[in-house]
Amino acid sequence: VTLYQQIAKELIVQIRDNTYQVGERVPSLRSMASQRNVSIATVLEAYNLVEQQGLIETRPQSGYFVCQAERLLTSPPHSKSLRPATLKQGKAISDILRNTQNGEYFHFGLAVPDDEMQPQQTLARMTNRLVRRHTECIGHAIFTPGDHELRRQIALKMAKLGCITHVDNIVITNGCQEAVFLSLQALTKPGDIVAIESPCYHGFLLALESLGLKAVTIATDPEDGMDINALSKAATQWPIKACICSPTLSNPSGACMSDTNKQQLLSLAKQQQFVVIEDDIFGDLYFEAQRPSPLLTMDTNNHVIYCSSFSKSIAPGLRIGWIIAEDRQEQIIERQMASTTGVNALSQKVLGEFLASKHYEQHLKKNRNAYQHNQRRALQTIAQCFPKSTHATQPKGGFILWIALPETVDAYELYQRALGENISIVPGKLFARVGFEHYIRINIGKLWSSLTEQKLARLGAMATKLSQQTKKLS
Ligand SMILES: Cc1ncc(COP(=O)(O)O)c(C=O)c1O
Repeated sequence: VTLYQQIAKELIVQIRDNTYQVGERVPSLRSMASQRNVSIATVLEAYNLVEQQGLIETRPQSGYFVCQAERLLTSPPHSKSLRPATLKQGKAISDILRNTQNGEYFHFGLAVPDDEMQPQQTLARMTNRLVRRHTECIGHAIFTPGDHELRRQIALKMAKLGCITHVDNIVITNGCQEAVFLSLQALTKPGDIVAIESPCYHGFLLALESLGLKAVTIATDPEDGMDINALSKAATQWPIKACICSPTLSNPSGACMSDTNKQQLLSLAKQQQFVVIEDDIFGDLYFEAQRPSPLLTMDTNNHVIYCSSFSKSIAPGLRIGWIIAEDRQEQIIERQMASTTGVNALSQKVLGEFLASKHYEQHLKKNRNAYQHNQRRALQTIAQCFPKSTHATQPKGGFILWIALPETVDAYELYQRALGENISIVPGKLFARVGFEHYIRINIGKLWSSLTEQKLARLGAMATKLSQQTKKLS
């Protein structure tokens, strides 16, 4: 290693371990030359090398600065709309999701909080106490619409968000997936057309396929969410029955809709007579204290069915979600009675206690801070270690990042290579009927550590290698 390479290497290490932070100035050529007792030309060569890696930039008359991750990582582009079509990727999606669940993997895959981010100790203590005092909780079934106290706690929680709803309007479900599925069943029959975001959560695609529904894909911006003009155009062309939408922190893009767009969406739903299935599963993980209002709070005409769960904010294993469906309530209860009959009683009782305690707010506050910190660290590592023209989202909450790699990279190939090194990710094609083949989604809902950074850097190196190989081939 030559002298300038050595200096470059040391500076890279200092940037990666945050000795020099994003936006901060690194020593001038002159001061580094005198520190290291080398010529200015040698330092210049070293800095050029670090600059080529996108880690520092020159600012005229000011010196060299550690690059803003944001500069390298602009959001991926707006997607396009697609005409209605039936879906045929259920098996591929299920196979990849099943593969991703292996306990041996370092998980950037499934969008679930890691064990350390779940209040497992508190839940275990509450479960023990409950089972000791009320043994019947283990054996009794609770039929749909679910445990009254849990529904009351959810009604209180919704009221804090500005949504005043009666306990009787809440149905407890087996997670948010069942909530969305039951809503679709209540609103549609096979062959009907449902509007979805592009990209959207793969569970929506599975549900549409399984119910024999057609998906019309609506152009979506990774920051602002569904394009309401595109939806309006689609709704005048085709008879849309329902629109599944995640106005706050959509999965995978993390997009958040403005209040103006939400109002326009509701006007359109009223005008074109469709119902919006609002999926608000990530809403509580918004980073700022005041999270955006759910669409439901603006709905005056019963054009919204609200679905959510505690799978992202507390623990996915509890399998507790809920629906607020007002005048479609009875249809939903009937369908749940005909399928699962209800939700595990013990989970409902424990969660009711957890929500009634001070723990939920404390837990959310702690996790929001951790995820925001993780996002900063992850974006820095991605900016440093992923191929040059990589784009990534910087969502205002949650714990997932949506990453567009250079178009030449096959994200499925990257997914397979990563699994070969026991690292899981989700390839982009799982989130749409077509396209997003060079995208990946990563989960950063974990206790951040040097190992996390190493694994993410390794993923970046694999992506870089793939981008170089593909370049050579083309
Ligand atoms: C947007 C969205 N909706 C629904 C679900 C399913 O949630 P649950 O595990 O509560 O069924 C997920 C899980 O990843 C999700 O991201």
